[in-house]
Amino acid sequence: MFKTILGIETSCDETAAAILQKNGDKITILSNVIASSLELQSKWGGVVPEQAAREQLKSIIPVITEALQTAFPQLSPTSYLPSPPIDAIALTQGPGLIGSLLVGVETAKTLSLLWKKPLIPVNHLIGHFYANWITNQLTANSLQPTAKHNAVAVSGGPTKGRSAVSNPSFPCLGLLVSGGHTDLVLFENHGKYTYLGGTRDDAAGECFDKCARLMGLPYPGGPQVSKHAQKGNPHAYPLPKPMLGSDDLDFSFSGLKTAVSTLVGNLTNHQTTQLTTTQLADLCASLQETICQVLIKKTLKAAKLHNVSQIIVAGGVAANQKLKEKLDLAVSSERLAVSLFVPPASLCTDNAAMIAAAAFFQKPINSPLDLQANPNLSLNS
Ligand code: KG4
Ligand code: ZN
Repeated sequence: MFKTILGIETSCDETAAAILQKNGDKITILSNVIASSLELQSKWGGVVPEQAAREQLKSIIPVITEALQTAFPQLSPTSYLPSPPIDAIALTQGPGLIGSLLVGVETAKTLSLLWKKPLIPVNHLIGHFYANWITNQLTANSLQPTAKHNAVAVSGGPTKGRSAVSNPSFPCLGLLVSGGHTDLVLFENHGKYTYLGGTRDDAAGECFDKCARLMGLPYPGGPQVSKHAQKGNPHAYPLPKPMLGSDDLDFSFSGLKTAVSTLVGNLTNHQTTQLTTTQLADLCASLQETICQVLIKKTLKAAKLHNVSQIIVAGGVAANQKLKEKLDLAVSSERLAVSLFVPPASLCTDNAAMIAAAAFFQKPINSPLDLQANPNLSLNS
């Protein structure tokens, strides 16, 4: 329906804006800008909601301006600022931190009124999956990081062979693995899906983050654990795999955190000493291995149960190289006729390109000014 969409994402500690274009089945990124307060947040070992919201306020206008400048370099600001050549504005409505969400929602409503553009609210969790619909024509280096406004312009670039593969088709199974969510969803069409199962306690990303903290690693923990795991033995420390064999498609990760806490306590003589480099590497590798095994087992179980030929993976934890490799291996070793879609790492973690991509398959709302941020939006409500 729309050809060019501006996406805005402000659910947590990233302020992001992106402009995407749809030509037939091809969705391409014209610009993708992210300003992150991660460095600030990592000082506190996690996201401080109040501080994240303040950073959102500082960054939102510079980030949107930079997304417009990058997408339309031939136009002068005096022409695109009063009326940019976009057809609609997409934004994250929720879930997320209310203070952060409000900044994006209210900015998008104001711009929609000012520019007379339709408004498309997107569920952040659904948005993550749509990173798999982006046929990015830019290479990873074609947009350089810029120091301006502390924003980083990123471009995904297709995963190996991705450009040759068509978009995911329906029905397909979705695995969302992010900081706050671990969900399995059966997509029957755009906007038509069934929730199959999810975590009963901590999310996979949350488990990475909490265990990393217990091991003395900074936030966010996922990339840190995966870095240290490279030199470790994944079978050094057997860790519990709760609900691995349960009949449902649910997950539980909170027991892992307790097990890692006990192990770290024993290994460090209850904090009188630090973990050695080898212990840290082995523990990270064992943790990563355990999380991957649980995610893969339930995902393949769901794929077989619902007889799908495609699996789409999404969310920050999908950036984990081991998870991708092991899932790929599991699919081929079980001889499943399943194609696997995983977005490039830069489109797995929070970004606005995925929000704009999802919006191409949604309808705009009738009364933009009535739109409210919803911090509790989910996939099963
Ligand atoms: O999707 P996301 O950016 O934000 C949410 O919507 O939650 O996901 C963030 C999560 C964090 O828990 C982070 O530790 C995890 O994704 N993450 C990773 C990796 N990169 C990010 N986990 C494992 N391996 C990674 N390479
Ligand atoms: Zn997210």
